[in-house]
Amino acid sequence: MNRNQMKEAASFINEKIEKQPTVGLILGSGLGVLADEITEPVVIPYSEIPHFPQSTVEGHKGQLVIGDLEGKQVIAMQGRFHYYEGYDMKQVTFPVRVMKELGIDTLFVTNAAGGVNESFQPGNLMIIEDHINNMGDNPLLGKNDNELGDRFPDMSQAYSRELIKHAEACADKLDLKIQKGVYVGNTGPSYETGAEVRMLRTLGGDAVGMSTVPEVIVASHAGIRVLGISCISNMAAGILDQPLTHDEVIETTAQVRQDFLSFVKETLKTLPA
Ligand code: HPA
Repeated sequence: MNRNQMKEAASFINEKIEKQPTVGLILGSGLGVLADEITEPVVIPYSEIPHFPQSTVEGHKGQLVIGDLEGKQVIAMQGRFHYYEGYDMKQVTFPVRVMKELGIDTLFVTNAAGGVNESFQPGNLMIIEDHINNMGDNPLLGKNDNELGDRFPDMSQAYSRELIKHAEACADKLDLKIQKGVYVGNTGPSYETGAEVRMLRTLGGDAVGMSTVPEVIVASHAGIRVLGISCISNMAAGILDQPLTHDEVIETTAQVRQDFLSFVKETLKTLPA
């Protein structure tokens, strides 16, 4: 994936929209409904966009939805690309490069994740304060394009402190209980063993999932301000004495959908410039 491909994808999208988006939204498993609230949407299936990979996982739609949400021009990904699907890191993060090219300066990255912190409960929302890249890969490997970002980008503020504070204030205002913590990105697709979850807890992880980390690394490289939100869909394996299924993840996510929607909308509505 190179800069020309990124520009081709961006100009294809640009021809279909009138206003430039400023906020990107990556919507995780079961959270794509947020895009249904965008008014006068321009909807573009990934399959139509030059150089875009295709989405395969259940519960993901695979389209861009562009338009107004809470007074902001947004570009939402209804469905993302996962490393476990067989895409490489450059493909997984290609849409972030394209959104940057289209003009976004802020990115909301959302996911469903397993709770590693034992004080969490399924259905909690967690603001991501930081991450641990446990994927054994990095989207910035290889020759660096200096026009896109630094060779050795700082990651100490990959998650905007300003947006973390803002999101907390919004949760407060809505009387929503919100957790904060460290998201561990694993490749999946197998869920964790009990021993792995204990290891992740020892390492400082609060939640674990199979996405987000690559996109946030690239967003940070590109100078995009990031807010990360995890929906704790289940307790990670080994905490409860029962097997974990994808259906459980989808079900719990559906239950917190309303909280998730009002939280993200409030955060957008009052987003600091
Ligand atoms: N582990 C990894 N990824 C996940 C989980 C989990 O428990 N829940 C949702 N995505």
